[in-house]
Amino acid sequence: MEIITGSLIAITVLMVIYMWKQRSPEAEANNLPPGSLGLPVIGESISFAIKKVAFFKERHERFGRIFKTNLFGKRTVRVYGADNIRKLVSGEGQIVRSSYPTSVRKLLGDQALSMSHGDVHKEKKTQLMKYLSPEFFHNHCPILANTIAERVQKWQHQSPIDIHFETRKLFMELAARFLINIDITGEVIEQLMKELEIFTDNVFCLPFNIPGFGFHKVSLASCSVSIIVCNTIKQKLATKAKLRMREIIASSLTESVNNNDTDGLSSVLQGLKAETNDVPIHENYALLDSIIDLLFSGSETVSSAGFSLLHQLSKHENVSERLRQEAHSHGLVKLEEPVCARDVQDMPFVDAVVKETLRILPPVGGAFREGYTIPKGWTVVFGIRETHERDSTVTSTSTFLPERWLHDKNSSSSSPTMFPFGGGARVCPGQAYAKMILKLFTVELSRSSALELVQDSPLCFWPSPKPVNKVLVNVTRL
Ligand code: HEM
Repeated sequence: MEIITGSLIAITVLMVIYMWKQRSPEAEANNLPPGSLGLPVIGESISFAIKKVAFFKERHERFGRIFKTNLFGKRTVRVYGADNIRKLVSGEGQIVRSSYPTSVRKLLGDQALSMSHGDVHKEKKTQLMKYLSPEFFHNHCPILANTIAERVQKWQHQSPIDIHFETRKLFMELAARFLINIDITGEVIEQLMKELEIFTDNVFCLPFNIPGFGFHKVSLASCSVSIIVCNTIKQKLATKAKLRMREIIASSLTESVNNNDTDGLSSVLQGLKAETNDVPIHENYALLDSIIDLLFSGSETVSSAGFSLLHQLSKHENVSERLRQEAHSHGLVKLEEPVCARDVQDMPFVDAVVKETLRILPPVGGAFREGYTIPKGWTVVFGIRETHERDSTVTSTSTFLPERWLHDKNSSSSSPTMFPFGGGARVCPGQAYAKMILKLFTVELSRSSALELVQDSPLCFWPSPKPVNKVLVNVTRL
């Protein structure tokens, strides 16, 4: 009884504070965009949790290119449009700065590159870019290409394959091997995939908790809003998944070191300045969290793009055929001869296919900033997906049409109205790796295999494009 009374009082107090804030001179004076801040504390998070990407779509249709809302405990302005994105990404440190929801920051840790700021961010990024250099690709390309070729051959014997599961497995293995320098295969990679999926699906949640459910306590008032329990569970799931990932990675890393499979940390991790002090691997949380950060940023994104690529090719035989012709015209006929970095640098149709995939199904739907000129404490999110979907410079935006890029002077994946890798000071440091790997995958797949879509599924887009049900594809050797 006491709890119920307490909760009712708490809710009433929150409602009053909220209504007062809604009418506060701050809100009126700042000439804020249209939209609603929803309920006290939880804002519109519940509606978002149910509708996901449709939530943004509905509001953009109602309010136009810019609207206000309250998500994940932050008052937020969401915008789309190439001009707006350009302003935001080039204004890093002046008009805005990168700012992810508290839940993401707490789960990824302040050490993560995407969570750091100022000189620390600059130094970390410069180091990382030094290691993700042209030499890195030159040295790793043959073995990357071989690994992809072997996997495609395996698929030819297992068909039909579940393309979402298989592409995630392949790109997670490649990220572990080339970005982190650990060989994780088979069952272990599947465990890691499961945990990373739980982590990724739950990382965006309200920054509240109830006692015993995780990493920080909150006031009774917040707890009394029962709906928060749902977010608490999400947070608990993400935290537990992170702890299990730490264990899996620590065991694999210890095994690799004991077997002398690795000569220490990969250059990419050194670039992130991951701590390699004397702390035993299992307790070196800074190192383990840097690895989780890389897997989160560098494997889920590439996997989503790899899935979308294979999915589109299985639906557009004419595109696969044209890719095959391009590969053959470059002398890539004998399957036992691996594709090399030089080959894929000069293949305009391969470029166009990768670019079109990243346009139509960008793996990262939007990015978060906080404003120096918008009200303090507010977040700005720019919608990459909506910008691509509503790009007036592109005809039939929802049609997969790689040919549209054939006479484009811009390099693969970039164009003044496309932002799959963001831009400015926060531009994705993994874009060269991602493009290289996606091009190798495209060439290898199309020159060696015919693809037949056996079972399709609608897609969901949160946090990255993926199928709702299994998508099955027959991969047949040519
Ligand atoms: C197709 C694959 C990928 C896509 C579409 C993608 C997309 C993005 C986008 C849009 C951003 C900017 C976010 C912002 O402005 O706040 C970003 C940042 C980032 N990405 Fe990627 N990414 C991909 C692959 C990778 C890979 C392979 C790595 C690892 C090597 C990586 C590591 C990062 C990191 C560390 C950041 C934060 C950069 C910073 O804060 O300065 N990404 N990515």
